[in-house]
Parts: sequence; C-alpha cells; structure tokens
Amino acid sequence: MERTDYNGELRAKDAGREVTLVGWVSTRRNLGAIEFIDLRDNTGIVQLCVEDPSKVPDVRNEYVLQVKGAVRKKDVPNPKLPTGEIEVVVKELKVINKADTTPFIIADKTDALEDTRLEYRYLDLRRPCMLNNLRTRAKIVRLTHEYLDANRFLEVETPILDLATPEGARDYLVPSRLRHGCFYALPQSPQLFKQLLMIGGIERYYQIARCFRDEDLRADRQPEFTQIDVEMSFMDQDQVLTLAEGLLSRYFKEIVNVDIKLPLRRMNYWDAMDQYGSDKPDTRYGLKLNDLTEEFHASSFEGFKNARYVKGILVPGVAAETSRKKVDTLSLEARKFNLKGVIAIKKIGGALEGSVVKFLPENVQAALMQKLGWNDGDVLLVASSDDRRDIDFGLGAIRTLYSKELGLVKPGTYDLLWVVNFPMFDPIEGTNRFTAEHHPFTRPRDEDLPLLDTDPASVLAYAYDIVINGYEAGGGTLRIYDHDTQWKIFRLLGLSDEDVERKFGWFLRAFQYGVPPHAGFALGLERLSMILCGTDNIRDVVAFPKNLQAVDPMSKAPSTVSQEALDTVGIEIKKE
Ligand code: AMO
Repeated sequence: MERTDYNGELRAKDAGREVTLVGWVSTRRNLGAIEFIDLRDNTGIVQLCVEDPSKVPDVRNEYVLQVKGAVRKKDVPNPKLPTGEIEVVVKELKVINKADTTPFIIADKTDALEDTRLEYRYLDLRRPCMLNNLRTRAKIVRLTHEYLDANRFLEVETPILDLATPEGARDYLVPSRLRHGCFYALPQSPQLFKQLLMIGGIERYYQIARCFRDEDLRADRQPEFTQIDVEMSFMDQDQVLTLAEGLLSRYFKEIVNVDIKLPLRRMNYWDAMDQYGSDKPDTRYGLKLNDLTEEFHASSFEGFKNARYVKGILVPGVAAETSRKKVDTLSLEARKFNLKGVIAIKKIGGALEGSVVKFLPENVQAALMQKLGWNDGDVLLVASSDDRRDIDFGLGAIRTLYSKELGLVKPGTYDLLWVVNFPMFDPIEGTNRFTAEHHPFTRPRDEDLPLLDTDPASVLAYAYDIVINGYEAGGGTLRIYDHDTQWKIFRLLGLSDEDVERKFGWFLRAFQYGVPPHAGFALGLERLSMILCGTDNIRDVVAFPKNLQAVDPMSKAPSTVSQEALDTVGIEIKKE
C-alpha cells in the first residue's frame, strides 16, 4: 500500500512536499467551508485540512484512510503536537475501511472502565500511551538481548509442558491425551531446567521466559507473566549481583535517561523488615518502624506488657484527622497480618493522649517522646505481636498506606537496592516444620551451615531480591551443589525419601555427575516495565492481560469445553 511518510514524523522542513499518508481518524472538526481531520498512525497524529469537504467522502472517528496531499506550514502552530507546525492539505482522500462508533474515545485520557478497555483491548491499544508502554517493554527485551549476548550468555528455551517446579504457587495443569489421569504442569519458572543447563555445561544461560502461576492476583501480578531468566556457573554472589546491576543500569539509562549509582545498596532482610516493615522496602521516604518493646513492657497495658514485640510508627502532623474511624480502618489493615489492631497515641499541647496513655508511667512517656523526636500533632501508631514477621508486615502495610495518603513519594524518582541474606526457612506456626523462603535448592550461607542442625530458623541464605520503588522486581539465589546439604534441607522441609524421589528424583540424579557451583536470578519483565512506564497497574504493560478474576474480558477465557474434548483427555467434571 502506498505510503510516503509516517504521520507523526512530519515537520516544518517537509513543507511543500507531496505526501501519501495512511491511518485512523482520531478527531474531525467541521468548520463548514473547511474540515480538519487528525490522522493517527503508530508514530502520532498529523492534522489534515480538507478545503472543500463536499468533494470528499464523509468520514467518522476511527475510519481507516489513505490520503494524498501537500504539506503546508501553519500560520498558527499547535504547540501541543510534535507535528504542530504543519498540516497536510488534502488532494485525494480514500476511505479504506469504516468503523462503528467505539465504546470509548480513543485518547490517552479516558474514563472508560478497565473491563471495557480490556473487552475492546484492540481499541485500547490504539491509545498512544498504551503503545508507548509496549514500546518500553520491547526495549527492555532488546537491551536484555544485547547486554547478555555481549556477556557470553546463550539464549536457550525450556519446556512449557513438563513437571511442576518448586516456586510455591499453585500450578496450571494440562491433561495428557495419551496418558489419561496424567498432567503436565505449566512452568512457574524455568528453575530446574536452568540448573540442569548448568550441569549440562552451558555455563551462561538466559531466556525471556513465560511463567504461569495460579495465585491470587494483585495490581502487580498476572497469572502468566514473563521473566528475564538468567543462570550462570562459577560465579560468587558479588559477581552475580554486579552482572545484574550492569543490566539494570542500562535499562534506566536507555529508557528514562537516569544514571543509577553502582554498586547498589545492599540491605539485610531483617534490617528491611524491622525498619521498613517489608522485604521490598521503598526507602524514598521515612516513616520507619520503631522498636518500643522495652518501653511498653514497662506499661501496665495487658495487650503490650507481655507481647514479644511492640513496635510503632510516628506519623507526623496527622493528629487532627486521626479519628476513631480512621484508627478502626488502620486496625482492619493490621488484622490482615494477624495483628490484633493498632492503637493511636497523639501528642497535643505537649502531652500524650489516647486510651493507653493512662497505663504508661510518666518516665516512660518522657522516654518515648525523646526517643521518637515526637512533635505536637504527630500520632504514634502502636501494635504488638509474638511473631516478628507479623508485626513487621502489619506495620509495614500501614506505612505504605500513609505514604500514599501523605503523598510522600515524588513521581519519576527511583530507588533501587538489593535485599540480601534472606532467612532460609519460614517456620510453620505451631509445628517444628518449615517452608522454604525461596525454593529448596537455595544455598544456606557457609557460616550458617552448622545451624541447620541446631537452630534452622536462624539460618540465612545466599538469596537476594532486587527492589525498585517498593516492588520486588526480581530475585535469585546461589544454588546448593552438594548432596548432604540438599538432603538436610529436604528433611527440614518435612520431605520423606519417597516425596523427594517422586518430586525431584529425576532432577537430583543429575547432581551425581559433577555439578558446577551455580547461581542465577530472574527479573519480572512486567514489573520492570511498570516501573519504567510509571504505572502501578501491571495490566497497562501487558497487551492482552487477565483481570483480577484471572479472566480475559475480551475472549472470556477460561471457558467450558465440549464433552468430546473432555472425553479425549479422560476428564469428568464434578457437579457442584
Ligand atoms: P521469583 O518467584 O522471585 O523467582 O520470581 C522472579 C520475579 O518474577 C516476578 N513475578 C511476577 N510478575 C508478575 N506476576 C506474577 N504472578 C509474578 N510472580 C513473580 C517478580 C519476581 O521477582 N526461579 C526463581 C528465580 C531464581 O532463583 O533464579 C523465581 O522464579 O518480579
């Protein structure tokens, strides 16, 4: 199809040229004797000027046109458009295709419901901001190929149909037609295969890998997503992090023109948890958690006196708006993390106010004020728990709420850090058993190996997450490569010989044949795209995403299938 130029690229220097353009009608304004049409293609918009509307066919929004005309400099430029200095005087206008009235206006600013946008995603993608998001995402992929290729990494694809991987979410299962009752699991990540590639002597692997996890969805989670997945042999943790930092700094330089200072900060898991109430802290603002256990143990308040941990956040200047109702809302949030709630103490006119103040001796009140640097109008929100993770996560959630409410984060700023030294295990409450904080092939730190026998809960691992603006953008670990440690870990995870054989026997066999020390990481492509596009909605960076119910509002997937299709794979649907 004839086309001489891209609409969004025409400039004043093109004035006088004859051009042939194609695209969609973005808007039209009929001024009687003259008609203006904004014609959009994937580079942007150019204004067409139809000097005799009676000679051209009627066009509506989103019609597809081919236009021949001459570029002319405008008397009054439009500073809002990159092409605003010129317009194209139409000589011939052909309607290539008509369009029905669209369910929402195709423009960056929209008040359409998200489900409507997803139902008509092909129209939503015509909005320039959506196209830009897809471009940013594609650029991350291109930079990844360039960087890893230059660093001797080999791109290898791993199976989509295989056995379950150990990432800990629920698997999507695919029934086998040839072996009724047997299922493939879609990969939660290429974890086991990338380790086998190291045993296979590849040394440096990467893949832009599709991953599938059947878990509850959130603003930064999709059931299918993409990892920039990397594994390498003969590298220690510092070397792995340095390599990842090189890649991250390229993204930031090339996409948002920000120079990231390397090496990135490294924060211990427990420091992040205890101070920021999160294993993915946003450190662009304060509102840190304060350990007040000692002070509140000196109180006579039952709820705090005997609790293992009492902690609080001092929120500046909110005393006036901290009503009962507000505290109830905060308590509701805290309860999601197994806390009983939060209690507010205000400082007004130099004195503390709140239901627990009468249980606090004068000297403790003075000590608290001094320790916290408590100003008039500030509110201390206090909670207690016997579980360190619960109290940290609970107050961390409240910290995040306030950061949004008080607008503490400046848009367009970036905060990158590594969280390192994660615990190896997460204790299962009320038992002597554990779950793996990452996955069971994560290597405990050398100095902590003796603790596997004496105090497993305190074993830390060679595990690291890259945290950007409070998002876990990626993570990885050094892997276990010796047999004894691996079996100790399985035991602590409560796996019997039979469990291990059934789940991982095929994988562990490879470990008998000379395993190189190896390590890796995976970056979430969507999370990186979100951060670099400046959106907090993962669906904005996925062409055809699922909604929060894991449904595609356009195709309506998932759907029922015919009886015949079920019979073929030997499946009977249970009646509810
Ligand atoms: P992990 O489970 O931490 O590690 O995943 C790595 C990164 O993938 C992204 N991610 C997601 N993005 C969108 N939707 C989801 N549901 C989702 N789940 C995870 C996150 C996360 O940091 N095999 C290991 C990596 C390794 O050890 O090498 C793994 O999968 O950004």
